[in-house]
Amino acid sequence: IPVQPFDLIIFGATGDLARRKILPGLYRRMVAGQMPQDARIIGAARSALTTRAFRDMIREALETFIGKDKLDEEIAAKFLSVLDYVTVDATGEDGWDELTKKLAKTKSQTRAFYLSVGPSLFGPIAARLHETGIATKDSRIVVEKPLGHDLESARALNKQLSDSFDEAQIYRIDHYLGKETVQNLMAVRFANALFEPLWNARHVDHVQITVSESIGVGGRGGYYDKSGAMRDMVQNHLMQLLCLTAMEPPAQFDANRVRDEKLKVIHSLEDVAREDIVRGQYRAAKDEPSYVQDAENPDSLTESYVALKVNISNWRWSGTPFYLRTGKRLRARMSEIAVIFKEPPHSIFAKLPAHQTNALIIRLQPDEGITLRMTIKEPGPGGMRLADVPLDMTFADALGPSAESMPDAYERLIMDVIRGDQTLFMRGDEVEAAWEWADKMLNDWTEQGRKPAAYDSGSSGPEDALGLMHRDGRRWREIEA
Ligand code: BG6
Repeated sequence: IPVQPFDLIIFGATGDLARRKILPGLYRRMVAGQMPQDARIIGAARSALTTRAFRDMIREALETFIGKDKLDEEIAAKFLSVLDYVTVDATGEDGWDELTKKLAKTKSQTRAFYLSVGPSLFGPIAARLHETGIATKDSRIVVEKPLGHDLESARALNKQLSDSFDEAQIYRIDHYLGKETVQNLMAVRFANALFEPLWNARHVDHVQITVSESIGVGGRGGYYDKSGAMRDMVQNHLMQLLCLTAMEPPAQFDANRVRDEKLKVIHSLEDVAREDIVRGQYRAAKDEPSYVQDAENPDSLTESYVALKVNISNWRWSGTPFYLRTGKRLRARMSEIAVIFKEPPHSIFAKLPAHQTNALIIRLQPDEGITLRMTIKEPGPGGMRLADVPLDMTFADALGPSAESMPDAYERLIMDVIRGDQTLFMRGDEVEAAWEWADKMLNDWTEQGRKPAAYDSGSSGPEDALGLMHRDGRRWREIEA
């Protein structure tokens, strides 16, 4: 779908996210030929920089995050030439007039304001954009997590945004929704006749959603220690994966229809019982610090790992649990959704050794792809012996070179903002409902004041998390790259 000419104004343009993800992503879209003539990208931040100095800074960012030898010099030069810069004091007076003037030149273009700044500035900037008339009726505003710390703060944030912008103008990013395989989950479910009839409690034994990371929290311990895995990952990213896996088929692939269905899933979540939650904190390893060292808080009660058994109380899923787990400093970086099917109703091979059941595994990273686990006869003479085999599809193999030019999550989402497509963005009510669910656990943990269980760096998490599954006669899939 072609992208119309736009003005993208990035607040916090000198910050880490802008330099690491947003601007390199836009450069890659230009390489892909998706950046329209007349597009302008205006950096806005507090640092007093000239446009030239800003361009130099972004040139350096492209070299670092894309690679000096990978840059197409001609396109890089063109990209830098569409960058502009204004020094703006988000909460003061400086810079707003200049920004107004700059934008007056291109009145008719789509305007998108990307607030790549701390959440305490979302409200003030939104209000300013509204008061000054810089934001027009069809301008868009883009924000990203943390979207609140609990239900109350999320509500307050939504209120601040909606005081100045309509819901249809607000784009709340969850970068997991921009991942190729996450969207593929919808394609697999709703563009094939094969899976949907089986996608329910009658045929699915359970679902496992794993987002495992090998990195620790070093470098951002200050932020993380106030969040923990529940706020940092579960309330948003894992919740989105759960919703897309569990939701009813929307009538159309349309922003509000998809989001209505996701919201219904969140509303169907049961409260999670204490015994269905395992929280963990990583220990020190040979050369690696422990969580409390990374967080610089020896008494920290924050979890760097959490595993949950989640029940969905609706017709489709009642009786089929969803097990979620995520953590830092685990064995490997690996994210997947595994739908584990039930045993066949009757086995004619009863005397054969037990074999695995069918499973559909959607791998988000690394090595994005989809695997269907099947049982076949082991080849050769010697009677009927069964073997478990994968039917594998990796994007790299299936799509060849076009898989390599796949846009990363941010690129895709920014282009969706310009196109005006909110399907892959969270609606305010979704965010609030997810907090309402998470808050009950978070409040209980604060009340209990208990330290999470320690686990070894490089392991697959605390022992108790194994118990969570074993108790139900199930086991986690291996965490491996
Ligand atoms: C972020 C979290 O939202 O997602 C980080 O704040 C986490 O703690 C990151 O590392 C994971 O994203 P990805 O795309 O690397 O899986």
